Amino acid sequence: MYKYKTIKSLRNKIKDVKSKGKTVGFVPTMGALHEGHLSLIRRAKKETDFVVVSIFVNPIQFCPGEDLKKYPVNLNKDLKLCGLNGADVVFCPDAKVMFGNNFFTYVDVRNITEGLCGASRPGHFRGVATIVAKLFNITAPDKAYFGRKDAQQAAVIRKMSEDLNIPVKINVMPIVREKDGLAMSSRNVYLSPEERKKALCLYGALKTAKEFRAKGEADPKNIIAAMRKIILREKGAEIEYVSIVDKETLKSVKRISGKVMAAAAVRIGAVRLIDNVII
Ligand code: PAF
Repeated sequence: MYKYKTIKSLRNKIKDVKSKGKTVGFVPTMGALHEGHLSLIRRAKKETDFVVVSIFVNPIQFCPGEDLKKYPVNLNKDLKLCGLNGADVVFCPDAKVMFGNNFFTYVDVRNITEGLCGASRPGHFRGVATIVAKLFNITAPDKAYFGRKDAQQAAVIRKMSEDLNIPVKINVMPIVREKDGLAMSSRNVYLSPEERKKALCLYGALKTAKEFRAKGEADPKNIIAAMRKIILREKGAEIEYVSIVDKETLKSVKRISGKVMAAAAVRIGAVRLIDNVII
């Protein structure tokens, strides 16, 4: 496995790989890799000839007051995991390499960034779309892989690629969960053992949404009320949003017909967790 820190070295490698007619799969990450990321790398390995993983904690997607400074970093462990799961290259630039001294250009995806996480994290998706557009330009992947836990992020990147005519196939892969249902997230390491137990209310609320829908409930208000109840039963759990939205537009639905997404963001102490399920 190769490790590159500069754009030039990665581009040279990819040029060489593509000149041999090989396809490139790309998994962008911010490191602190867990089974969710590794499942994306393995999938990329199955579907493409050459797998690039990027590890870059992107400062421009953190809003003021968020956890940029204490975002978990463990590059050596991540490199080992990348190698074991089939990555051919890890690209781990620093902020100077990615942004230089003057950086003036941002990618702003409108509309689908307004609700859900976008409502409470102003500028977050602008930072995500900008860095992913840059990484796509550098890596020129045939296919890129994202997790469905960050469903809004995946939708933003899909739309951005479509609107900017970036020739990459976006693959959104299933959420990987711990045995008890908690969705895997790099931020789970911040949870104390007690908070870890409380965090299960998020999955509990999503399971409830599934059950209600399976019994034929079509009024989102009733499902949301039941979900909120489950979360608020847990002392210290704070709801940022609980929503039932259209899978594509991410707009709230007034009545459920067909498949929709139940999504929630919850704070357990200082840790913000998100999760969703298709119902
Ligand atoms: O999902 C993430 O880890 C990040 O938002 C991404 C896509 C790597 C962009 O920094």
